[in-house]
Amino acid sequence: MLCTFNQIQKRDNIRERTKEEMSRFRGANGGNILDKFVIRGGHPLEGEVNISGAKNAAVAIVAATILCDEPCIIENIPNISDIGISLEIFRDMNADIQVINKNTIRFDTKNISKPNVPHELARSMRASSYFLGTLLGRFHEAFVPLPGGCDLGDRPIDQHLKAFKALGALDDIQSGCVHVKADSLIGSQIYFDFITVGGTINAMFAAVKADGYTVIENAAKEPHIVDVANFLNSMGADIRGAGTDVIKVRGVKYLKGITYSVIPDQIEAGTYMVAAAATRGNVLIKNVIPKHLESITAKLRTIGVSVEEFDDSVRVRADMGGPFIKTNIKTMPHPGFPTDMQPQISTLLSLAEGTSTVTDDIFDNRFRYVSELRRMGADISVDGKVAVIHGGTLKGAPVKATDLRAGAAMVIAGLAADGVTEISDIFHIERGYEAIEDKLTALGADIKRVYVPSKNDLAMSV
Ligand code: EPZ
Repeated sequence: MLCTFNQIQKRDNIRERTKEEMSRFRGANGGNILDKFVIRGGHPLEGEVNISGAKNAAVAIVAATILCDEPCIIENIPNISDIGISLEIFRDMNADIQVINKNTIRFDTKNISKPNVPHELARSMRASSYFLGTLLGRFHEAFVPLPGGCDLGDRPIDQHLKAFKALGALDDIQSGCVHVKADSLIGSQIYFDFITVGGTINAMFAAVKADGYTVIENAAKEPHIVDVANFLNSMGADIRGAGTDVIKVRGVKYLKGITYSVIPDQIEAGTYMVAAAATRGNVLIKNVIPKHLESITAKLRTIGVSVEEFDDSVRVRADMGGPFIKTNIKTMPHPGFPTDMQPQISTLLSLAEGTSTVTDDIFDNRFRYVSELRRMGADISVDGKVAVIHGGTLKGAPVKATDLRAGAAMVIAGLAADGVTEISDIFHIERGYEAIEDKLTALGADIKRVYVPSKNDLAMSV
């Protein structure tokens, strides 16, 4: 089970200092695992919303502080439960973590004595695999149980291991734990069989202090790849080409401590853009990099939504009437339309006139939310990797967040539906969206968290 910061804080084996610090760095509404959202739909979103730091950049950058030879301060870290899990991993490794404020943390990793990640924490998120690359880069050895994360079908790490092997590491998987070890890491050529975000980041981590020169080919180009490379370069690494499909890394001996701010979250921004559209609202989405949103902006415009771009914000309007227009979408690695926005945009298309198709073949199973959306009246059929969406209206119903972005789609559906929608398993949503109900409430949504004490909480309160 995934943990909110609140639950992590309640674990009785936490050292006092960390316990105090965790309490300052927890989900803004730090709830329980069984909590639900209850949304009364039909209120157009209006006003302004600030986008938090990018989850998928932050989880990698936080893990990368292990490679740094001095303390680092990371700013604009999203206050989400995946970061809470990363902090738990650091605590277990004896790193010195100081939570400066709710989005800023100082990491001093010099005291890490063992290159091990505990089983239950590794299984709680996909990004635990980044500890393989960073521990290998620093200690030339890592023990990390196979990662968990959203259930989107099979999610192997063979390409990560292929990259480590190219640099001279041997791997062995026993009882679900990956052990990688190298006498020394030597720069080499790494060619990915297909584009992998996690594989590209892990290859950079292992190569950054290797001896000599590494060339990573068929690399992923997502904004968070560039952010991770910028972070490493600011510490003194020599990485060129991040954001293109060939990344060149010249190994260095020493990485100095810095203060670094994580980029804004492309997917959180896209989610609020779609929510503004689906509720026929008018929202200024602030603290974004509009270039990162181009594929989302283009599709929203095709659907008939107005998107105005400014230097670091976008205004999304769908309050002028006119139907949403059907369209076809295929998810692609960056700069294509992101798979992490597929459930949200499909929800909007279920409100469009006519029939749209959505193809998503990046993961085996990213359509699990469809059966939930059907409970709300959506007319969607799925054949393999293709969903056919006949647009119509949505009605409130009890539904479940089946994973992080599926949960975001349920929130959008609830906001746009007639009547009341109750969403369970919202801990998935809290893995990646900071203070979502506060941000939506400030935009005029009627969304309430229902606190449901778990058996553990009840036992603790006795
Ligand atoms: C990252 O996952 C993101 N997670 C995902 O975010 C995102 O959906 C995905 O990239 C694609 O953009 C993080 O950054 C923590 P991949 P990752 O390696 O790195 C297969 C979200 O909602 N593959 O690019 O796991 C894999 O199974 C999420 O925030 C292998 O077969 O994605 C998938 O089919 C969920 N072997 C495809 O490649 C490997 O060794 C792309 O995966 C690696 C990947």
